[in-house]
Amino acid sequence: NPDLTASAAGHLMIGGVDTVELAHQFGTPLVVYDVAAIRQQIQAFRDSLVANGLRYQISYASKAFATVAMYQLVNQTGIHTDVVSGGELYTALQAGLPASRISFHGNNKSRAELEMAVDHHIGVIILDNFYEIQLLHEILLEKNTNADVMLRLTPGISAHTHKYIQTGQVDSKFGFDVDSGQADQAVQAVLNIEQMHLIGIHAHIGSQIFGPEGFEMLVNKLVDISADWRAKFHYVPQILNLGGGFGIRYTQDDHPLGPETFIDDIANALKKRVAQRQLDLPEVWIEPGRSIVGPAGYNLYTVGSRKDIPELTPYVAVDGGMGDNIRPALYQAKYEAVCANHLNAPTIEPVHLAGKYCESGDILIDQAKLPAVVPGDLVAVLATGAYGYSMASNYNRNPRPAVVFVENGQAKCVVQRESYADLTRLDQPYL
Ligand code: LLP
Repeated sequence: NPDLTASAAGHLMIGGVDTVELAHQFGTPLVVYDVAAIRQQIQAFRDSLVANGLRYQISYASKAFATVAMYQLVNQTGIHTDVVSGGELYTALQAGLPASRISFHGNNKSRAELEMAVDHHIGVIILDNFYEIQLLHEILLEKNTNADVMLRLTPGISAHTHKYIQTGQVDSKFGFDVDSGQADQAVQAVLNIEQMHLIGIHAHIGSQIFGPEGFEMLVNKLVDISADWRAKFHYVPQILNLGGGFGIRYTQDDHPLGPETFIDDIANALKKRVAQRQLDLPEVWIEPGRSIVGPAGYNLYTVGSRKDIPELTPYVAVDGGMGDNIRPALYQAKYEAVCANHLNAPTIEPVHLAGKYCESGDILIDQAKLPAVVPGDLVAVLATGAYGYSMASNYNRNPRPAVVFVENGQAKCVVQRESYADLTRLDQPYL
């Protein structure tokens, strides 16, 4: 793998730190983030938005990886974040992220969550449904205050991707449907509410998108809606929030556009359509999650048992699995792995890289190309930074791994490894 760096001893290096040292110091399974890679991705989005002369906001979709350290990094880079629960909002605020740079998403925000958002005067609440418009209106009246809002629309565009992560098609639990007139009803309702200031519209067409077509269609549709609303309601959204979904490379078979190309294509489509519809260029918001943290993450595991079956692919098991990365089991997601303590050893026959969980489906990589590994060897699964730790569980009462940030040759533990005591912390005796 040409993107990986080896030490003189042939160890995988991340951010100038030897992964064998990391495993030694922090134990395995271990989640490691290359902080410079996160910064680079953010900068790449920013540079392209600037180069295209757009007014913009980058809002990191923190569901991809949400911890205090990550929100601190977001804060330092100056971008926004979006949250989808009271828990994410709490964590972001704990990290010191200014509330004004937080957007709140979700198809069923509770009264308590909305109150929390209102009390902290967060940047924008993205309204998802009629019930929420009413609930937020009640809260704003009770608290005698206002809020900036956007409307989440379901534009009827579905990015071709795994069906569990499509959210833009008409048959979706998210947002106001455009073609049936729900979106028109919603905008009228919100424009009539004095306590709500409608700053823009939002749509998210899917995740792990490789090509520009879906975004181009989305831009056209949102501009057309804006023109339509100008005529019908004398209202033009000032912000078009295009959601996230920018794909990343998990394996050699993946060929996503980079941030630059995605943004260039979006900007060109947008400029063309607003000129056609005689509208001003709106501010553009994007919400990348996976593309910011995914490529920067590595899951390190120690090799344990091996099972050989005559004429079949052998099973090599590591000390983690579906508890720290559910994506292969849940979405048949594909990953690549390397032997981190023998990075340059030639690969041999593929193996099933199995986890340690009591479930046959707990296979991290179905056909992993590794050298002949033995117990104690270190395996790194690549590009695990998005929706890995954030979807981790305590299944089988396995403690969740530690998370380490590395940068400039320094390693810092940013989430401690769970202990057995942590596992029973909330348990109460019955007898
Ligand atoms: N904005 C909205 C409104 C979203 O719903 C999402 C993701 C994003 C932004 C960020 O999308 P990204 O840039 O990360 O693709 N657990 C699944 C992914 C679920 C994504 C849900 N929404 C996975 O592991 O693939």
